[in-house]
Amino acid sequence: MSNIMEIIKKYPREKRYTLAMLQDVQKHFNYIPRQALEMISEYVNTPLSNLYSMATFYKALSLKPKGKYVIKVCDGTACHIRSSMVLIDEIYNILKIRPGETTEDGMFSLETVNCLGSCAIAPVMVVNDKYYGKVSPAMVREIIKEYGGEKNE
Ligand code: FES
Repeated sequence: MSNIMEIIKKYPREKRYTLAMLQDVQKHFNYIPRQALEMISEYVNTPLSNLYSMATFYKALSLKPKGKYVIKVCDGTACHIRSSMVLIDEIYNILKIRPGETTEDGMFSLETVNCLGSCAIAPVMVVNDKYYGKVSPAMVREIIKEYGGEKNE
């Protein structure tokens, strides 16, 4: 995968750039392929196990491919009080995915996050970079439709 090498080579061969490399790989592929871990491991001369630890520790990094659309439902305190869990249930009803999962067609992934800094409009849901506030279960359905989900209903 020459793309991976191009990404990695933008950085000096030093361990302190490891996270930046992983973030760039994540951004490019939407996940971190195993091959990238192996190449970074060799490039900065650090054990593969350290890279696995980093990739599993940071929520923004994923070892599994994520969907084209990543849905984040805030479950911080303000959103939780305003029934964010009901939104998660509704997403399950529509897409059959739980937090941490991706639909079989690779279109949607679901994650929960802590406070997105928009508590005034809780409960908050984000699709890729687009924010939706005061979301109701009915709105969840509409939002998912916007992205091409639930076409056949
Ligand atoms: S708790 Fe959800 S935006 Fe703050």
